[in-house]
Amino acid sequence: MQKPLCLFILSTFFLQILVSAQQIEVNSISVGASLTAAPEAKPWLSSSGDFAFGFHQLQGENTLLLSIWYDKIPEKTIIWYPEGGPRIPTGSKVELTNGSGLLLTDPQGKSVWTSGPVSDIAFAVMNDTGNFMIFGNNSQNIWESFSFPGDTILPSQVLERNGVVYSKTSKTNFSRGRFQLRLLQDGNLVLNTRDIESGYAYTDYYATHTNDLGNQSNSGERLVFDSIGYLYVQRRNGSRFDLTPKQELPFGEYYYRTTLDFDGVFTQYYHPKDLTANSTWGTIWSYPENICLSFRAPEDSGACGYNNVCSLDQENGNRPKCECPKGFSLVDPSNPYGDCKPHFFPNCEGGGPKRNAIDIIELADIDWPYADYVIMNPTTETECKDSCLNDCFCSVAIYRGNKCWKKKLPLSNGKVDYSLGVKAFVKSLKGDVDLPKNPHFSRAKNDRKSLIIVGSTLLGTSVFANIVLIVVLCVGMFLVYHKSTRKLDPVLETNLVRFTYKELVQATNGFKDELGRGAFGIVYKGVIRTNTVAVKKLDRMVHDGEKEFKTEVNAIARTHHKNLVQLLGFCDEGEQRLLVYEYMTNGTLASFLFGKMRPGWNPRCNIALGTAKGLSYLHEECSVQIIHCDIKPQNILLDEYYNARISDFGLAKLLSMNQSRTNTGIRGTKGYVAPEWFRNTPVTVTVDVYSFGVLLLEIVSCRKSVKENENGDEYGTILTDWAWDCYQERRLDVFVENDLEALDDYKKLTTFVMVGLWCVQENPSLRPTMRKVIQMLEGVIEVPEPPCPFPFPVTFCKSSN
Ligand SMILES: *[C@@H]1O[C@H](CO)[C@@H](O)[C@H](O)[C@H]1NC(C)=O
Ligand SMILES: *[C@@H]1O[C@H](CO)[C@@H](O)[C@H](O)[C@H]1NC(C)=O
Ligand SMILES: *[C@@H]1O[C@H](CO)[C@@H](O)[C@H](O)[C@H]1NC(C)=O
Ligand SMILES: *[C@@H]1O[C@H](CO)[C@@H](O)[C@H](O)[C@H]1NC(C)=O
Ligand SMILES: *[C@@H]1O[C@H](CO)[C@@H](O)[C@H](O)[C@H]1NC(C)=O
Ligand SMILES: *[C@@H]1O[C@H](CO)[C@@H](O)[C@H](O)[C@H]1NC(C)=O
Ligand SMILES: *[C@@H]1O[C@H](CO)[C@@H](O)[C@H](O)[C@H]1NC(C)=O
Repeated sequence: MQKPLCLFILSTFFLQILVSAQQIEVNSISVGASLTAAPEAKPWLSSSGDFAFGFHQLQGENTLLLSIWYDKIPEKTIIWYPEGGPRIPTGSKVELTNGSGLLLTDPQGKSVWTSGPVSDIAFAVMNDTGNFMIFGNNSQNIWESFSFPGDTILPSQVLERNGVVYSKTSKTNFSRGRFQLRLLQDGNLVLNTRDIESGYAYTDYYATHTNDLGNQSNSGERLVFDSIGYLYVQRRNGSRFDLTPKQELPFGEYYYRTTLDFDGVFTQYYHPKDLTANSTWGTIWSYPENICLSFRAPEDSGACGYNNVCSLDQENGNRPKCECPKGFSLVDPSNPYGDCKPHFFPNCEGGGPKRNAIDIIELADIDWPYADYVIMNPTTETECKDSCLNDCFCSVAIYRGNKCWKKKLPLSNGKVDYSLGVKAFVKSLKGDVDLPKNPHFSRAKNDRKSLIIVGSTLLGTSVFANIVLIVVLCVGMFLVYHKSTRKLDPVLETNLVRFTYKELVQATNGFKDELGRGAFGIVYKGVIRTNTVAVKKLDRMVHDGEKEFKTEVNAIARTHHKNLVQLLGFCDEGEQRLLVYEYMTNGTLASFLFGKMRPGWNPRCNIALGTAKGLSYLHEECSVQIIHCDIKPQNILLDEYYNARISDFGLAKLLSMNQSRTNTGIRGTKGYVAPEWFRNTPVTVTVDVYSFGVLLLEIVSCRKSVKENENGDEYGTILTDWAWDCYQERRLDVFVENDLEALDDYKKLTTFVMVGLWCVQENPSLRPTMRKVIQMLEGVIEVPEPPCPFPFPVTFCKSSN
């Protein structure tokens, strides 16, 4: 018996040696090996084929870049390049040399870059972590690309004290840009801009504050990106400062990277390793949260170039967007993030433009906080404007709350700021107002602009003309002012805005961008005065429902809770009934739960609790009790911080019985409605509790309550039955499909499932109130054992598959 076993062990041992020998053969790069730069040149691959080292052809150019990239992801993502990202022509060569390590030479044989002088090199390896490593004759690591990062840090990579990561100059220019990530000598991790010429580092715009503050042993030692995908500053005393929040990583197999992007935002990205799904890079976090507001010092230009104005592009992952305001244009038109040049430079010499050729451009909601030379306080808007006009030094004045700051060029750290009622007065030449500009910086001034242009042609002819012009201007301004304030007429008792149908057609670009469809109609995306909104066009309205509409809208308008979607305004004009809501950036809970990626456990728990709180408010706290009647994941929206926000509440009453008893014969949605809808009993808040129970079980399991095929037929197990079975059999691991994060939090998981089972009791009187649900979810009160929710339970628990 022993001999065959021995043989078996021996043979597998040799097999392993063979396999590993082969791996080394395939992947180790021996001294003298080289790659020649050509568009389709084969790279050196890591053993799994995840990473490649070779030449990347730069888009639309006849040059290449020596780099490391993810080889399996179709969208080329470069994670390393030599310092400065030198561009080299076809025919260049990289060679592993004894003496110079990696040596990059141009076609003439001239050295372009080298990894540094080393002798006694044995071989090199493109490691599966994305690290290119050179080894010496006794296998010690002599050089690795991880020690010389480009703009990206990968899992298992570490940044030591004094380590620096540079941003690129632009998306396609790999030379070192203005932004830096540095782990300082004192242990503080900072983001800062720098002077490109001298390298001088300016005041940071983000910091972890892990510096020693009097106790060396608590300060940051290194920045660690661990192999699981968490980035943190490791302190000397052993504890961590987490940049990736605990338990925030998605469930499953992903590539992770953190990149200091060329726009200065430091971001952790993920990409599914399963490439059958049509996926791209997603964002786990980015710092700082709002780069436009993060610069704290007058030096340097801020997130954008000088005189440029930064706003946060919320639809694009909170990236900064830079736009030259009116009166300025880009110095380099191909780089919107760069400096803006003024069309008019103030000039105190006699040769400058005449006073009456100069005008002021008014910009709402724009602030440049630095470069003041005069502060007037108190003053008025008119005095501020006139003072700048009459001051030959003044280029721009900022007015806010009876204060006026006169400024000189260039202006730094420009930003859009809606919160403060700021106004910028930019001195310009008459006529310049007509230049192409960003519409959102010049809102509601179109009418006036044309008047000014008419005026400027009249100017200089006679005093009378000027007087006429001033009168015309005043009337024009009054009209503009009047027009924009009319919109704000509040409906009785509430601060809702009443819109005309035409305004909403304009806001939604003719109802072009559909966000979703629900029981009440279609929801469209729109923009009203720079705010993105969701416009719901109600169709199936009760006949003769005008009074009811007003009553309901007023009731909805009086609700205020952080877990409800806020109604901003409405339109009832003729047959048209529309509701205008705040826009929720992260879509519906349905797409969050049932998307390609299983969301993290903690965010799911927060959403469950938030939904419970919103519902409890509707049931118990607002002035008129509101029964939602259609709680389901499609009606729970997620705001930018992934807070649950209930939508569509207060509308159930607007459906006439006929209309609501369509396919299902009931109000609400199949799979979520309480059984008493089928009986003839009065409807109470407990129907919402039932639907919430179903929703809670969905949130826990990430499974739909009912699966449907294309014909709308149900198949598979009903979620509530499944939950009860798994609960009874003590197999919650099966219920959550082995979600390790959830299983790590077993007490909470059990609590949530038990609460869900209490909510879906067929007998409405057994269901808890939403207030009690919250207390149970929060662990404030014990959850008793739930009874079987159904009269005739099926007791078996399928294993997953
Ligand atoms: C590398 O060069 C050193 C001298 O510079 C020499 O001693 C050594 O043998 C060389 N190694 C190989 C593998 O050629
Ligand atoms: C790749 O890097 C990892 C982590 O540094 C190391 O454990 C492993 O041995 C390396 N693989 C090769 C083939 O060098
Ligand atoms: C191996 O490297 C060590 C130090 O790096 C050196 O002293 C030794 O001579 C080398 N041996 C050979 C055979 O190259
Ligand atoms: C890349 O940016 C650097 C620094 O701004 C600049 O000097 C260089 O000309 C740029 N390269 C290209 C090809 O645009
Ligand atoms: C510094 O912190 C360490 C542990 O965090 C503690 O043991 C030590 O006493 C502290 N030293 C001072 C001077 O506060
Ligand atoms: C390490 O230092 C940090 C920061 O002062 C402190 O919050 C943490 O409790 C310390 N950890 C230990 C194990 O002393
Ligand atoms: C994959 O994504 C691209 C771009 O987002 C899209 O054009 C294409 O239709 C998608 N393909 C599939 C099969 O979904």
